Amino acid sequence: MSWLLSSAWAYPALEVLHLVGVALLLGNLVLFELRVFGRGAALPVEALARLALPLALLGFALCALSGLLMFATNPAELLANRVFVLKMSLLMLAGCNAAMFHARGSVQKLDRTARVQAAASAMMWLTVLALGRWIAYV
Ligand code: HEM
Repeated sequence: MSWLLSSAWAYPALEVLHLVGVALLLGNLVLFELRVFGRGAALPVEALARLALPLALLGFALCALSGLLMFATNPAELLANRVFVLKMSLLMLAGCNAAMFHARGSVQKLDRTARVQAAASAMMWLTVLALGRWIAYV
């Protein structure tokens, strides 16, 4: 993976890809979660889920691909970085929350539990974003 560091553009290009992924993930999730909270009630929730959630998943895939390549350039230092480890742990928790949201059929059942799951999701992904930026400063 040293070629990623020796090239002047490769690492910055990965960061750009990472941020495109963040924008797709957070942009679509926030829109969908606002709908779970009852905003834009005229929009059919299942149709919105079919449009927004695959795009959010694509955003996550871009983050994971570019993130793992960035990680591979400096694994030892990143594993010793508490903020990176916290980010990865929270990311897994947010993934479990998303899996539970779908496993219980929350898209079809916009009750209190669905709203708690949506609020937890927004908070966790925003914190993952902040921790991602923070890694460079510890
Ligand atoms: C498997 C998934 C992911 C991996 C392996 C990963 C890994 C990384 C790595 C290695 C960095 C560079 C850290 C540095 O040296 O400064 C980084 C930066 C960052 N990550 Fe992730 N990440 C992942 C997912 C995410 C997600 C889902 C988000 C947002 C919700 C996110 C937000 C950020 C941000 C905002 C930065 C800073 C980018 C910059 O300063 O240009 N990451 N990530």
